Amino acid sequence: MNRTLGILISGRGSNLKAIIDAIKRRDLDARIAVVISNRADARGIDHAIGAGLVTLIIGHKAYPTREQYDRALVYELRKRDVALVCLAGFMRLLSPVLVDAFPNRILNIHPSLLPKYPGLHPQQQALDDGATESGATVHIVNKDLDAGPIVLQSAVPVVAGDTADTLAERILEVEHQLYPEAIQRVLDGAGAAGRSWPPRSQ
Ligand code: GRF
Repeated sequence: MNRTLGILISGRGSNLKAIIDAIKRRDLDARIAVVISNRADARGIDHAIGAGLVTLIIGHKAYPTREQYDRALVYELRKRDVALVCLAGFMRLLSPVLVDAFPNRILNIHPSLLPKYPGLHPQQQALDDGATESGATVHIVNKDLDAGPIVLQSAVPVVAGDTADTLAERILEVEHQLYPEAIQRVLDGAGAAGRSWPPRSQ
């Protein structure tokens, strides 16, 4: 099967780097056809260029509507025969134009044990909630924010004295293991453990 990835970023790009490294180590059998950033100042762009990847900056501000922007993304992704789109710190809500163009073929990583703490500031949400653990989730993207079927999750304990930043840092280490593993799982045709893929409800 086609194991071509398109990776969308907006910032630091540490998950992008984890995916690049996993491919290099041959822990992940995939090929990155394109990295797209919606921000010209995203630090992750350096990882993409450093790895010799096709790297595009497509700024959303040049597009009057979310749908028009997403159409531009779909065009670039399809042009390169991308089979799986990986959101890696991509800070944009997706319109149905993008979600429907890649049904069950868009992954996202979120720093909480979804369905707990979706949306912004999930680490602070966990602390405010008095949670004893949080974690990371890789899930399939559907039209609802942070709500699609879960591919893999991993828990991270909340420790005394944690701030949103220290918790985020520990969760991030787990994310870097989890995302490549989840991508491999989806490319291998498996969903969440014991479930068929793609999920029937989608
Ligand atoms: C990660 O915590 C990810 O879970 C969330 O955004 C952050 C992106 O970090 N969606 P990076 O850009 O991959 O370093």
